[in-house]
Amino acid sequence: MIKIAPSILAADPLNLEKDVRAAEQAGCDWIHVDVMDAHFVPNLAYSADTVRGLRRITELPLDVHLMMDNPETMIDPFLDAGASCVTVHAEIDRDIPALLERIRRRGRMAGIALKPNTPLEKVTDILGMTDLALLMTVEPGFGGQKLDARVIAKIRQLKDMGYQGEIESDGGIQEDNLESLAANGLTVAVMGTALFRNPDMAGCIARLHRM
Ligand code: DX5
Ligand code: ZN
Repeated sequence: MIKIAPSILAADPLNLEKDVRAAEQAGCDWIHVDVMDAHFVPNLAYSADTVRGLRRITELPLDVHLMMDNPETMIDPFLDAGASCVTVHAEIDRDIPALLERIRRRGRMAGIALKPNTPLEKVTDILGMTDLALLMTVEPGFGGQKLDARVIAKIRQLKDMGYQGEIESDGGIQEDNLESLAANGLTVAVMGTALFRNPDMAGCIARLHRM
């Protein structure tokens, strides 16, 4: 069963607790927190305090996606705040194995994220150090974009390599395109607009879980 991870980027910023509780009630599996530094991506979103607050109201895994050029400054604050998984981007100019090791050393899941145009070959030598691979289906920075279907082949490629971690995608995922992602190996679907703008989130998640 595919895991559904609502992205709080699409939640009501003035009613985050209400929306997250509703998502949990509706049967979602994880909560996805898109952290943005206004440098790696042209947007700014969430501090570790948000994760600390979420940890107080839910037991669900908190899946933190660091869209940052300098994630080394924020890994420990987000882990201290209760993040279950911390994901860094393959495109940054940092010692990525060291970052992944720091996350795993504290007993949490370490993830690597790739933008749509970044080939899997960029990370094949470090996949063994990860528990999750996030294959972005949009250019990171904003919700509500159209899914880039070219990434389906990347999902299949990672699956066929026998990758043992979670295969996650994020961006433009809707009820009408998730089936093909799941059929090609996706195990976690990040969804923002399609869930938080949906009047029947529970019904939608129930259908998604059957894909
Ligand atoms: C992009 C963001 C979005 C968001 C989900 O950086 O990460 O992908 O989580 O977007 P939608 O609303 O398209 O599901
Ligand atoms: Zn994300």
